[in-house]
Amino acid sequence: MIYTYDYSMSTYIALLGRQPAISIAELEAVFGPSALEIIAHEAVAINAPNAPQATSRLGGIIKLCSVTSVLQTDNIQKIEQEVTKLALKHQTDGKLKIGISAHNTRLSPGKINAMALSTKKELRSHGQSVRIIPNKSAELSSATVLYNRLTHDKGLEIYIIRGKNGQIYIAKTVYVQDIDAYAARDQERPMRDAKVGMLPPKLAQIIINLAVMPHSLDTSESPNPKTDDAQAILDPFCGTGVLLQEALLMNYRAYGTDIEPRMIEYSQKNLDWLPTPDKSFTLEVGDATNHVWQKPYNFIAGETYLGRPLNNLPDNATLTKIMSDCDVIHRKFLQNVASQTSPGFRLCIALPAWKTKNGFLHLKTLDSLSDLGYNRVRFVHTKDADLIYHRDDQIVGRELVVLERN
Ligand SMILES: C[S@@+](CC[C@H](N)C(=O)[O-])C[C@H]1O[C@@H](n2cnc3c(N)ncnc32)[C@H](O)[C@@H]1O
Repeated sequence: MIYTYDYSMSTYIALLGRQPAISIAELEAVFGPSALEIIAHEAVAINAPNAPQATSRLGGIIKLCSVTSVLQTDNIQKIEQEVTKLALKHQTDGKLKIGISAHNTRLSPGKINAMALSTKKELRSHGQSVRIIPNKSAELSSATVLYNRLTHDKGLEIYIIRGKNGQIYIAKTVYVQDIDAYAARDQERPMRDAKVGMLPPKLAQIIINLAVMPHSLDTSESPNPKTDDAQAILDPFCGTGVLLQEALLMNYRAYGTDIEPRMIEYSQKNLDWLPTPDKSFTLEVGDATNHVWQKPYNFIAGETYLGRPLNNLPDNATLTKIMSDCDVIHRKFLQNVASQTSPGFRLCIALPAWKTKNGFLHLKTLDSLSDLGYNRVRFVHTKDADLIYHRDDQIVGRELVVLERN
């Protein structure tokens, strides 16, 4: 049986990044929990008409596809018919470049290539000249989709996605992450400092989205259009300013403080370098454990002090000392913020979590949040334990914690 999709339902499928649970939390923050359906380990259906407008602010998705039909069978001929039907709708002057990707299916690259060739044949019989992008693996990489301009005119990436209940979604890619733009935002900034760590811009976007929870904004339009009274985000541990940079690119005003004057200079140079018109930001030196922030701010978002960078897990006594130093700073910081904000105020902070062979050790501060004046915000689709951003070779992960003043 074939259901042709009703476009008014606006279903999109997001293909997720390296840590899908974190990407899902971000989508929940942006679109609200009821707009999401987890259809595979790394794929989420989003029922929101504004999903494509939100893509530029999403750090956790690789691609966004618009669903055109859903099959209740994985019969390959039926899939091929739907793929061809979708391709035929994209006839254009000149050559059409087509790629096919399959997610969570049993289709091998060879089968996908064969399907692409027969689609090409069918299109040629309708007078359409076609170039097929061959598959080395079942899914085309972001780079392949980007460099072949498959999301532009004269390009098409067709997705075949198998959902948890065996249904097959046929979809068209409408967005692919711009890996070059992310790399430039990360590596071309004039001032970098390996010692304070490098917050990846994608993770900065996720932290901002978790702090702001933009689904509380008007979701019928692009989240956070540029306005004169844009909301301001404060990063009290701003370092070289990656989070502030991403906040400005997302049309927020940015307010950064750091205990180190050198870091404030670095942030100033990095934000000056950003080619964004009308950027509005404030920087000042301040110790987050006692600073009084004078400028207005609506949210706090940032990566806090993560303790000493570690290449290996230290002995128990050293680790206990590192953890307890971090604990003191975080406690005082949260008390300081609580004394300057009102109930309902929200923050998302990336805190250190230390990886041992028995799992992650969490910052002790997390055990006394309510005494410090906060409730931890929970997600419907992601467990707290899955909100630790880390790489295999790292000892210190970043635990993403969303708090609300009680
Ligand atoms: C992990 S780094 C943040 C890096 C930052 N996300 C970036 O984009 O470069 C932590 C920063 O916290 C600052 N810091 C440490 N203790 C602080 C305190 N008590 N108050 C304010 N900043 C502090 C450090 O100087 C450092 O720049």
